[in-house]
This record gives sequence, structure tokens and C-alpha cells, in this order.
Amino acid sequence: MEDRRSINEFPESYPMNEGDGAYSYAQNSRHQRRCIETAKESIKEAIVKKFDIKTLSAPLNSIFVADLGCSTGPNTFLAVQNIVDAIELKYQQSENEIPEFQVFFNDHASNDFNTLFKSFPPNRNYLTAAVPGSFYGRLFPKATVHIFHSSNSLNWLSKVPKEITDKTSPAWNKGRIHYTNAQKEVVEAYATQYAMDMESFLCARAEELAVGGLMVLLISAVPDVILSSDVTICTHLELLESCLVDMEKVGLVSEAELDSVNLPIYFPSPKEVMAAFGRSKRFSIEGIQEFGNQDNQVSLQTLTLTLRAGLGGVFEKHFGNDIVDEVFDRFSKKVATKFLNLNENQKTLLLSVLLKCKPND
Ligand SMILES: C[S@@+](CC[C@H](N)C(=O)[O-])C[C@H]1O[C@@H](n2cnc3c(N)ncnc32)[C@H](O)[C@@H]1O
Repeated sequence: MEDRRSINEFPESYPMNEGDGAYSYAQNSRHQRRCIETAKESIKEAIVKKFDIKTLSAPLNSIFVADLGCSTGPNTFLAVQNIVDAIELKYQQSENEIPEFQVFFNDHASNDFNTLFKSFPPNRNYLTAAVPGSFYGRLFPKATVHIFHSSNSLNWLSKVPKEITDKTSPAWNKGRIHYTNAQKEVVEAYATQYAMDMESFLCARAEELAVGGLMVLLISAVPDVILSSDVTICTHLELLESCLVDMEKVGLVSEAELDSVNLPIYFPSPKEVMAAFGRSKRFSIEGIQEFGNQDNQVSLQTLTLTLRAGLGGVFEKHFGNDIVDEVFDRFSKKVATKFLNLNENQKTLLLSVLLKCKPND
């Protein structure tokens, strides 16, 4: 089957830090939680308004909700409960009997699902199941899922664009780890990978979403990708890169190691996100909201721990475990001298998009 891509086609995965210890994602994802909280009420309202019980194609004695890129919790529980509450409200308003809910938690197979399972809210009013695999391929049977949700996950590319590490390519990102302030070929390679990944994502979801089903996406974006060095998170990535460059200078990492590490993360502009939906033709945009900077008032320690919980895995995989402490120690010292100079207006946007699946022509 053409559209049923196996998870083996997407071999790169960099899960968030496992467990619930000091460096874990579970303990260090308040920034991502704030994104979910920021959009929560408007998402609930939009679902109540747009979730159309009558037009849904899949049987409705159960409602199937899936969170894509759920990580280890607890943020996913906040997001899925909001969706379950919204649908319950919809059923109450329409005086229909409230169905059972089944929530599927998806992430890469290498995600720490055990931590997720151990922290399921005890009083939840939904059944649970885990679905390991890349959301850039097929995960569910056709037309079965009523609501997809994904927050803070679609910024992860399926892979580092391959020309970035190709010495013979004009897009070779030598001595760099990201596209911020890189030459235009590097930025273009990332942008192309993002567009291809979004196409795969939307193609898979279009198959899996029940007709009339909804998809809620929370995506971190920037006003202009070329000017991404004006954006807080990209400034942080550059600072992180400068720590690795310093480490290379004193022989803690080799030149070859530095040249070959790149972050598979992309912050699109709202225009790119909309263009991806436009190309897909299988979804109608039912609502879009843009929220401002989510990075205000974060302590330096929180900032370092948040980045470490998210990106530590990339460095660990590439350089080995020993290097991770050193990178983030250096980062926390550097950011302490730079942080006060960061322009408060540096913009990271949060896009909240509600999509509806159109019937297949
Ligand atoms: C920053 S975390 C977000 C977790 C949670 N949704 C939240 O908002 O706190 C991103 C998650 O997306 C997952 N992820 C990235 N690419 C993925 C893919 N292709 N398929 C499934 N999960 C993916 C990562 O493993 C990680 O757990």
C-alpha cells in the first residue's frame, strides 16, 4: 500500500529526556506546558463549535483521540483532557449520550512510554493505549480517529536534511549545528525538509482521520525564517553551538564530530505552515490563532534545563553521554552573560490551528 509507510522509513529519533529526574522532560517542560495552557480555552471553544457529531463517519459509541508526539507527560494529559472535556460538553449540549473515550498516546518507539504509563492521571475518564512510531508515516487504520492533537512536536523534522552534512554540497553546514545565521543553502535545505515532512504528516492524517474529524496543531513559529536570529529560541541555539565550537577548540570534541552534528528542528513562518495546509487539499482550516512570545520570565536555570531536556538526546547520541554535562554547563555560564541583553521583543510565535478533514473526492 502506497500510503502505509513503515516506521523504519523514519529511523531518526531523538526522544526527550526520560524518567522523572532532575534532567527529565517530565520535570522540565514548563515552557511547552505554557503553550498548551495559552491555547487551551480557545481550543476547547473551537472543538465545541466545530465537532459535528452528525457528519462523523466513524461509529460513535467510542470517540478516538490521538496525541502525536506525546513525550513522557505530564503536558499530554492536560492537552487530551481539554479535548475530552470539550467533546463531553458538546454531547451534553446536544443531549446525546456521552460515548466512551479512547486516547492513543503516540511518540517514537524510543520514547520513555513507561514513565508516561506510570503517570497516567488516576481519575481520568478515558481509556488509554500507546502507539509507537513516527507520525510522518501511517499509525492508525483508515478513517478511525476523531480528533488528532499535536503540540510542540511538529518542529522536529523527520531527519537532518542530508545535504547539510555533505562536504560536497553548497549546503554543507560546517562547524554549525543549525540554520540560524547560516548561508541560504542551509536555510533552504531545512525549509525543503520541513515542507516534505508536513506533506507526509498531512497525507497520513488525511487517511486516518474520520470524515468530519478534527485536528488541533500547536506549532512554534517565527515571523521570518531568514531573520530567525532575531528570535529567542534561535539565539539560544546559536549560543549552544558556540559552546560546542569552544569545546572543539580545546579538543573536547573533534572537528569531524562538530561538522556532522545538526539539530533536526525547524521553526517555520506562519506563511510556510499555511502553504503546507494549502498544498494538502484534504483539510479545511477551521480556525487559526497566533499567540505572542511564550518565553518571558524564564530563569536561566529553567532555560538551561528546558533545552537540555529537549536537545540533550541529540548530543548524547552524537558525542556520547559524557559531553552533555559539559555542553550545558558551558551554556548556562554563557547565557548568564548574554541573557540580560536579549531583546524582549524577540518573537517566537505560537500557532494554534484547527483543521477539518474533507471527504475524499
Ligand atoms: C517537545 S516534545 C512535546 C511533547 C508534548 N506534546 C508537549 O507539548 O509537551 C516533542 C515530542 O515529539 C516527539 N516527536 C518528534 N518527532 C516525532 C515523530 N516523527 N513521530 C512521533 N513523535 C515525534 C519527540 O519524541 C518528543 O517526545
